[in-house]
Amino acid sequence: MSHIGVIGAGQLGRMLALAGLPLGHQFSFYDPNPLSPARSVGALTVGAFDDVERLLSFVDDCDVVTYEFENVPVSVAEALTERSIVLPNPSALRFSQHRATEKQFLQANGIETAPFVYPVPTVEVLLEAVHQLGGTAILKTCTLGYDGKGQRVIRNEEDAHAAWKDMGEAELILEGVVPFDREVSLIAVRAANGSCYSFPLTENVHRDGILRRSTAHLPSAGYALQQAAAANVHGLMDALHYVGVLTVEFFVVGNRLIANEIAPRVHNSGHWTIDGCYTSQFEAHIRAITGLPLHPIKQHTAATMINIVGSLPDPQEVLNFSGTHLHLYDKAPRRGRKLGHVTICMDDDYERDAVAAQLEACVPWVV
Ligand SMILES: Nc1ncnc2c1ncn2[C@@H]1O[C@H](COP(=O)(O)OP(=O)(O)O)[C@@H](O)[C@H]1O
Ligand SMILES: [Mg+2]
Repeated sequence: MSHIGVIGAGQLGRMLALAGLPLGHQFSFYDPNPLSPARSVGALTVGAFDDVERLLSFVDDCDVVTYEFENVPVSVAEALTERSIVLPNPSALRFSQHRATEKQFLQANGIETAPFVYPVPTVEVLLEAVHQLGGTAILKTCTLGYDGKGQRVIRNEEDAHAAWKDMGEAELILEGVVPFDREVSLIAVRAANGSCYSFPLTENVHRDGILRRSTAHLPSAGYALQQAAAANVHGLMDALHYVGVLTVEFFVVGNRLIANEIAPRVHNSGHWTIDGCYTSQFEAHIRAITGLPLHPIKQHTAATMINIVGSLPDPQEVLNFSGTHLHLYDKAPRRGRKLGHVTICMDDDYERDAVAAQLEACVPWVV
């Protein structure tokens, strides 16, 4: 069995270990935060993500190294390949760390994205670009954005000047607003032999820029959309010679899929797979990077995941609903912080939706 090194020790790392420990694997984590959620499921080395020397000695002991965090500098991840097997290979990081590079990569692979203007070096270019994109647009920092941070909607000249004042120092991209009917994500896994398998499309609802709810419809819903999304994502993974789990967020407009973001890792919208699939996204990733067999992914129950944000729920209240599973990440409560999630599993979509609606009232949202 393998000693797996994980760069990043957040909740995703914690859940990777919770899936990989029963397979006999051992885990070590590397993270700047000594109180990281994964500290209780493996040894934690505390260090900065750009401290190459420290990272090199961390990976020396590992059979395989992976990441749960995509902002490890590419040059650092590449240096680690000299000392250990790093999966997925670091080239995937390059395309997910920068919003313009990401969109160019998606388009080069035949996948539609939101219209965009890049670069946006001056406020004059910004004003012209807003006009060009139809009068309303979203200004985003090219790097390090998450949970809606580093973004501003621009509706008029005044917004543009205000946004420039706050964000003008950063490298920026301006995106046209996609009038989406819904947001979905597709999580897929690719094995070293090139076999790809997809999880069911998940519908995602955001609140205050943060994911609130992910719902996996039973496979009967939107089969054509599922096939189209899977073809897109499998193509990207082939292009990257990817090994492991990768996620793409899409906007759905009519029956069109417009890609929004690539995450070269397990994803918040796939947490329901722990309780709703025979093999979770976390186990699938571990199997892929350790060369264990993978099979077509099967969902066994209708599932909805609700994120716990900012404050902790009362476990008595949450688990009082039959079919719920509570997952807490061992993080100190703070406004806007993801502290855990609840998954509700039921035999059919209707029953699940009815219970999820009641359950949501017991799941904190403090931002
Ligand atoms: N171009 C766009 N058109 C419409 N909505 C958008 C656009 N970009 C972002 N959003 C909304 O903001 C959310 C967060 O943006 P995203 O680019 O995914 O950044 P983050 O890295 O914070 O997840 C999206 O899930 C979507 O709801
Ligand atoms: Mg996103």
